[in-house]
Amino acid sequence: MPLNSKIDRRGFLRISGATAAALMGGSILAACQSARPVAISPTASADFVPDLDLTLKATPSEVAILPGTPTKVWVYQGSVVSGDPASVQAIPGSYLGPIIRVRTGQKVRITLANDLPAGQETIIHWHGLRVPAAMDGHPRDAVAPGQQFVYEFAVTDRAGTYWFHPHPHGLTATQVVNGLAGLFVVSDDDSDKVGLPAGEFDVPLVIQDRVFDADNQFVYSPDMMTAMMGFLGDRILINGQPDLTLPVATRAYRFRVLNGSNSRIFKLAWSDGTPLTIIGTDAGLIAAPVTRDHAMLAPGERLELWADFSGHVVGDELKLISQAFSGAEGLVPASGGAMGGMMHGGMMGSMTDAPELGTPQDLLGVRVERQEAETLTLPATLTPLNLLRADEAVNAATPRRIVITQKNMAWKINGRDFDMDAVADDERVGAGSVEIWDLVNDVNPNEMMDPLGMAHPFHIHGVHFQVLGRSLRTDYPEFAPGYESVSAGFVDEGWKDTVLVMPGETVQVLMRCPEQAGTFVYHCHNLEHADQGMMRNYTADA
Ligand code: C2O
Ligand code: CU
Repeated sequence: MPLNSKIDRRGFLRISGATAAALMGGSILAACQSARPVAISPTASADFVPDLDLTLKATPSEVAILPGTPTKVWVYQGSVVSGDPASVQAIPGSYLGPIIRVRTGQKVRITLANDLPAGQETIIHWHGLRVPAAMDGHPRDAVAPGQQFVYEFAVTDRAGTYWFHPHPHGLTATQVVNGLAGLFVVSDDDSDKVGLPAGEFDVPLVIQDRVFDADNQFVYSPDMMTAMMGFLGDRILINGQPDLTLPVATRAYRFRVLNGSNSRIFKLAWSDGTPLTIIGTDAGLIAAPVTRDHAMLAPGERLELWADFSGHVVGDELKLISQAFSGAEGLVPASGGAMGGMMHGGMMGSMTDAPELGTPQDLLGVRVERQEAETLTLPATLTPLNLLRADEAVNAATPRRIVITQKNMAWKINGRDFDMDAVADDERVGAGSVEIWDLVNDVNPNEMMDPLGMAHPFHIHGVHFQVLGRSLRTDYPEFAPGYESVSAGFVDEGWKDTVLVMPGETVQVLMRCPEQAGTFVYHCHNLEHADQGMMRNYTADA
């Protein structure tokens, strides 16, 4: 197979799909479906006085997404037990949500009630919030249908666009595809002072991809290939709606953009070539606005945009799009990899007609409908980041290496699979210590499939990190073209909890480990990869 040659995916499938399926056996699926012990859920404690007490019932529902038959979905039904009812905002007509809005310093009690079908144990992870390990939604805390789990924690993080989603091992991808996810928006005094667009001009945008059948139902049947490569849909939904066009006025908006897709990576840009003005990343505002011609947004990541339509006239239309990029699914090395050629040639595309990773797509339409005299201007500075210094790290001389590899058609972290309770010696950190981790996306020269790997959005629970640097290995020139198609779009200026690591790339991150002792997971946020076992525990020791 010549290097970088474009292969007809469906053509390859016809030739080799059956062989591939036969070769792959049933081990991954079997592992995903094995029984897990049911946790005993904690109950509300009398001495915890919450500012917001909320119940989230994970339950089947129906919502009209496409014209015709409503789509069967799973939703979090929120109800406020005590506290400000405005802190919990349902999104009418969407499976997503509710949006939870709290201020830094507030205490929340959230009771997760599992009303999902048989076999769907669940637990919620508060993605990006640094909460004690017992409140973090570790997969071993998953509760069976009919049971509940009570979370009690104080929100100590800076203002930011956080989110929540299920985290039961082996079932996360399914539950997210079926609709379970919501935003958790934190505000604080620092961010209030900045003077950003607020209220209806502060717009959450959750991007996801789905596949619908002829009867408008979600199609998701994770097979070997989906487990290996990740699920890709052929319909873009924004806030759970297809073909969304946002009516706007001639003024500035704040867009909080979350990639809530299982696997699809976006390269965000404006259709008219206007650069993106970026004001925030995963864990809140950055120090000062930056501009990018395009910005990468991988599953789990958030970006906040300053979107100013004051230069437009009523009637103008533009689009938020995803631009073409390559290399995220790896490449076939010149020297072989028969399965690799087949993988990229046919199997993924075979599941659906979903466009492959890196295909240009329209995401959101924007129509200027109203003249407005609002004169908000982009602030020159936003909020202080209080960054760490690399020399504060206890391991500055020998950073911890987190090596992503593939073995026997499964993704591994340092050669290991997820184990509910195992913590290796090299997965122990000091509580509150500052560490550098090297996230290394390695090559897999001896593997039949995908020898050069895939892009992995890497997420670490319990921490916020800053990106110290990135480097691309040079011994495989195959990596360069794909990398060049995305690298100008990384937004590494702020605090993050999820970072895209391209094939052949090492991303170096700096973080303060959880202050309280406990065991957290770190994993790939390609949800099929995580479910398949691309996840590990790490323990903060007091
Ligand atoms: Cu958003 Cu462990 O996940
Ligand atoms: Cu991955």
